[in-house]
Amino acid sequence: MATERKHLLYFLTTDSHPSPFDINMAYDAGFHAVIPYGDVTEELAVLLVQDIIFSRGPKGAKFSALFIGGNDMEIAERVRHAAVKSMFPPFQVSMMIDPKGSYTTAVALVAKAEKALGGLQGKLVAIPGGTGPVGTVAATLCVKLGAEVIIGSRQLSGVERLAQQLSARTGGSVKGAAMATDEEKISHLRGADVILTTGKAGIQMISEAVLKALPPGKLVADVNAVPPTGIYDLSPHDDLKEIVPGIKGIGALAVGVLKYDVEIEMLETIRTSDKCVVLDENQALEIAQRRLSV
Ligand SMILES: NC(=O)c1ccc[n+]([C@@H]2O[C@H](COP(=O)([O-])OP(=O)(O)OC[C@H]3O[C@@H](n4cnc5c(N)ncnc54)[C@H](OP(=O)(O)O)[C@@H]3O)[C@@H](O)[C@H]2O)c1
Repeated sequence: MATERKHLLYFLTTDSHPSPFDINMAYDAGFHAVIPYGDVTEELAVLLVQDIIFSRGPKGAKFSALFIGGNDMEIAERVRHAAVKSMFPPFQVSMMIDPKGSYTTAVALVAKAEKALGGLQGKLVAIPGGTGPVGTVAATLCVKLGAEVIIGSRQLSGVERLAQQLSARTGGSVKGAAMATDEEKISHLRGADVILTTGKAGIQMISEAVLKALPPGKLVADVNAVPPTGIYDLSPHDDLKEIVPGIKGIGALAVGVLKYDVEIEMLETIRTSDKCVVLDENQALEIAQRRLSV
């Protein structure tokens, strides 16, 4: 008697301990089983992918999928490329990459800002705390949507290096700036149309003094849901609330709801797609934009 095929997700993460966040999401997106592998490198990915693609035969491939994640975005990208290179027709399975949730989080943040302003073309976007995975990907997406970007950090030399790399990679304008003190923040954020705070969880990036010193007409948005949140007086559920005269804010959970929907749709797509797909921040952005357009 034929056995019903189970939808299996292989979770390849750069971390020693695979995150329960992505495992839970995968079950909620309908996978029958999620099989985690920790400390995955590109070399290990090649070996794992060979066993994944050959064991179920060409017809079984569409019942297997890969999720590539982990705290280290660069290694996760190398794992993605190694996995793609290890496959060939008809031994191919669908996959998505979302290291530490940073791609879907950055996508949701940028798509919410884009929707609120009716586009980011020609806008100046400032990203205080933008040297982590979420800020780096948000910067790349903003450039893709036609914005100029300034990334803020406590360390000028490191952020200038990062900005040069992102400018070279995207062909757009990304600058780095020291934003260690309130004075430095006010001076660099004053001219921005949009401020996206992507600092470490539980760190307030925009104080009351900075917020009140900024001229009106700006949008601010945050992804830090851990108190204190990233922007003074911006609550996680706020969605385009005026937090000081002339400045509207989008809080971390208003962004998080969209991030959740985008990640679930990506997982459902790699579970159900008849043809092999590889989903990253670019497809995630299309999903977010479509969801916000209805
Ligand atoms: N909703 C979700 O599902 C979700 C998913 C992922 C992430 N997030 C949130 O997104 C945010 C960014 O995540 P991430 O992983 O990119 O962040 P991260 O790498 O932990 O931190 C981002 C940057 O914050 C700065 N920073 C660290 N400690 C600081 C301090 N004491 N004072 C000021 N700045 C400090 C650092 O920049 P410098 O050293 O260059 O100054 C660091 O590069 C976090 O708040 C996280 O909780 C949400």
